[in-house]
Amino acid sequence: MKIDSKKFESLLKEYQLRVEQTLDRWLPDAQVNPIELHQAMRYSVMAPGKRVRPILVYATASALGLDLKLVDGAAAAVEIIHAYSLIHDDLPAMDDDDLRRGRPTCHRKFNEATAILAGDALQALAFYILSHDADMTSNSDSRLQMIEKLSLFSGSRGMAGGQAIDLASVGKTLNIAELETMHIHKTGALIRTSIRLSALSSQQLDADQFKALDSYAKYVGLSFQVQDDILDVIGDTNTLGKPQGSDIERNKPTYPSVIGLNASREIALELHHNALEALSIFGEEAEILRYISTWFVERTH
Ligand code: IPE
Ligand code: IPE
Ligand code: MG
Ligand code: MG
Ligand code: MG
Repeated sequence: MKIDSKKFESLLKEYQLRVEQTLDRWLPDAQVNPIELHQAMRYSVMAPGKRVRPILVYATASALGLDLKLVDGAAAAVEIIHAYSLIHDDLPAMDDDDLRRGRPTCHRKFNEATAILAGDALQALAFYILSHDADMTSNSDSRLQMIEKLSLFSGSRGMAGGQAIDLASVGKTLNIAELETMHIHKTGALIRTSIRLSALSSQQLDADQFKALDSYAKYVGLSFQVQDDILDVIGDTNTLGKPQGSDIERNKPTYPSVIGLNASREIALELHHNALEALSIFGEEAEILRYISTWFVERTH
């Protein structure tokens, strides 16, 4: 598909809307018991997030010429795992933040116990969707592989493991390799999984295409978190929708705190460059993925 920046913006909106409709369909009604838990789940998931991970699911599906209906379930599942990770990330025992997506964090709006349970229940819901979505691949082996990948990369060897490293690193000086390992796990793993789930939906993907997409995913997964660290320093709370300076306040090792702002920016650009290079075997069909990589390192939110 030939696209320019205007078309890119409209595709982002289309994908955001599409996943929001899918999320709305899968989330339990807020009037159903236990009401407070269901309200909290909806409150956090339906709050205005960028929907970066679902966007990657759809953009990859589009690059592979797939019907987007095939990946609606995967798009909703990765966003739901992400929403659960944010609810827990904001808890007093973790980053202790009060603002998320421009609103009070889940434990502030409700209470800590409800926020913990909302995270638990969302994690389970993501796997329920991957197991039950009737529009997904009819190949049960592919479906099982999707469940396997999402469980592996959101657990202790992926996102949750990265969060554990993050918490254990407070007040410590990490070297650049340790910092990279932390980021690859806490943020990169779920971003990489988003792209893999779409790849698994294709029955015709060859090994070179898979390798190219996975390599792209690895680079953008890391560049996204490097920019997140940069925005903690140079962003503003209103635009971010979450408190600027939270990492500094909590003494977290981040790219800017370890190597400085300029070197962090250079690394983000180098990762972006590598991401584009990884896609070189693709033509115009991967143009959305290229725009996404640019967005990740230029974003202010
Ligand atoms: C924030 O993720 C947490 C990180 C992994 C950096 P996003 O920047 O994707 O947050 P939302 O979904 O737009 O709120
Ligand atoms: C969070 O990283 C990564 C997650 C798995 C949620 P951060 O703690 O940097 O995310 P923000 O800055 O609070 O969104
Ligand atoms: Mg954190
Ligand atoms: Mg945080
Ligand atoms: Mg952050």
